Amino acid sequence: MEVLIQNNAEAGCLLGARIIARLVREMPDAVLGLATGRTPMQLYQELIRIHQNEGLDFSRVTTFNLDEYVGLPAAHEQSYRRFMHENLFRHINIDPQRTHVPDGTAADLQAECRDYERRIEGAGGIDLQLLGLGRNGHIGFNEPTGSLRSRTWIKILSEQTLKDNSAVFGDMAHMPRHAITMGVGTILEARRVLLLAYGPAKVRAVAEMIEGPLAAVCPASALQLHPRATIILDEAAAAALKYSDHYRWIDRHKLDWQKHGM
Ligand code: GLP
Repeated sequence: MEVLIQNNAEAGCLLGARIIARLVREMPDAVLGLATGRTPMQLYQELIRIHQNEGLDFSRVTTFNLDEYVGLPAAHEQSYRRFMHENLFRHINIDPQRTHVPDGTAADLQAECRDYERRIEGAGGIDLQLLGLGRNGHIGFNEPTGSLRSRTWIKILSEQTLKDNSAVFGDMAHMPRHAITMGVGTILEARRVLLLAYGPAKVRAVAEMIEGPLAAVCPASALQLHPRATIILDEAAAAALKYSDHYRWIDRHKLDWQKHGM
């Protein structure tokens, strides 16, 4: 795991956007795995800025989102399809046909899960998967104790997740209780992963993910197995890390070709 501690969330998002922009420049037909939530919003704003001001071309890029609420149609205000449209897709020159979000309204949800896996495989796999982190250590909607080898599946949302995400729904009563999400095994197959976590609410999950044992109670700890996982944190989210001086040391002593966002 590569741990990059930034001064604040803004710096983290700018760095994350530079990493993605660089990949898209080097590989114009890159397959990106995308995430929703508050955490990556500023990263998306920066990608939009780079597209508008520097001509970053998304016309050949393919995307696969991590997850979607079961039962929410694409047009619903809180659907992740809508989130992606509003926060990224409608501002860049991406071909809508190349953007994939699981269909939470599919009549046969199991078939949709299998089909989503087939679509990822058909696109040649994911070059870079962007991730946020749940307060309880979830990635996508893979809640604690779920299999670390899981493939795209239907998950029951934990009470903590319902609480954390309820603000945008008005209250918990109006929230879907289930989601369709890439599995941890699906995420681990991405050739590179980039996880962002900011703020004091994530401090425990961050420590467990990076320095805790590999354990299904913290699904994000599975990223310890990934050969190319980059974790971008702000100071607040990194506050409980025992080895933060070591991560900073490593970051300062990188060779030029190992540095990000150059
Ligand atoms: C949500 C999403 C995750 C996201 C996480 C954190 O439930 N399914 O993909 O990373 O929770 O959300 P936020 O970035 O708003 O803190």
